[in-house]
Amino acid sequence: MATPTAGGFKPRVFSGMQPTHTLHLGNYLGALVRWVEMQKTHDCIYCVVDMHAITTAQDPADLTRSIREVAAAYIAAGIDPRGSILFNQSQVAEHAELAWVFNCVARLGWLNRMTQFKEKAGKDRENASIGLYDYPVLMAADILAYKATHVPVGEDQKQHLELTRDIAQKFNNDYAARIAERGFGEQYFPLTEPVIGGPAARVMSLRDGSKKMSKSDPSDYSRINLTDDADAIAQKIRKAKTDPDALPSEEKGLETRPEADNLVGIYAALKSVTKQQALDEIGGRQFSAFKSALVDLAVEKLGPITSEMRRLLADPAEIDRILADGASRARGIAAPIMREVREIVGFVGGC
Ligand code: TRP
Repeated sequence: MATPTAGGFKPRVFSGMQPTHTLHLGNYLGALVRWVEMQKTHDCIYCVVDMHAITTAQDPADLTRSIREVAAAYIAAGIDPRGSILFNQSQVAEHAELAWVFNCVARLGWLNRMTQFKEKAGKDRENASIGLYDYPVLMAADILAYKATHVPVGEDQKQHLELTRDIAQKFNNDYAARIAERGFGEQYFPLTEPVIGGPAARVMSLRDGSKKMSKSDPSDYSRINLTDDADAIAQKIRKAKTDPDALPSEEKGLETRPEADNLVGIYAALKSVTKQQALDEIGGRQFSAFKSALVDLAVEKLGPITSEMRRLLADPAEIDRILADGASRARGIAAPIMREVREIVGFVGGC
């Protein structure tokens, strides 16, 4: 996409995941691998979006556990909490504060178009929380509280990123005179770009190649959790659904074979090669032989991550310390931006 990131903004990455569940291989290959990579080229801020989590009912004790688990998964996957900023959203009040200003910028009609709200609210829309409806505005505030220019997300978040740009643009326009007068540049907020996908954008269920790997699947054999040990990883791969044929040697041969396609995709992503490169190596093999190779690879690549995650989770106080440190550094960026926003809007005072 050739849409310019509005002039002069320092490249900065922001992304987040909801602490509503234990993370799995789909979250790792679909997102975290990319997040880790982006640390080499960008200043990165990675957030555990706990305020988004409570837009649907959460058991408080489970929420606490999940926040630490997601933070541990970020670190175990390779996010460096010193080089990057890692924190949970609720510790930085600027997210909520900027969301309020954006509530007054965003239009009802814009939010009415959000497809994720319609899906999540389902038939009983009258009973959905206002927070669930307002979710994308808080997401815009997450991103723009840091003037982030790039947001690595899944395909399903594209519409929310468009809304973020609409909000930034309307704010920039509505307050253009004031922004110029105060010397805050031509555009106050950047028009943030999504960075879509990871090495394997769609990791499917190990039990059904037509369904996405998901925490809500009742069968634990459908997914590899980032807390599974080597034995569990091996067992789940051995039990994964397959078909009776040998693997094809061309990618085209995977088109009508969702389970084979998924396992080859996982193999390729774990090896950082394309599916065709993987098939050059493993094409023609029976599933039994391929699965042994996949087990070895998965245990080699994921074993250290899942064991690091279990190690981190054994010391929740250390995770809390890391999150508190990240939150204070996040505040260091967001607070001056929020001060300027107050001034732009015309509020009096402001600490
Ligand atoms: N809505 C995102 C998701 O469900 C999570 C999220 C919240 C987010 N705030 C964000 C992602 C800001 C990127 C940037 O995946």
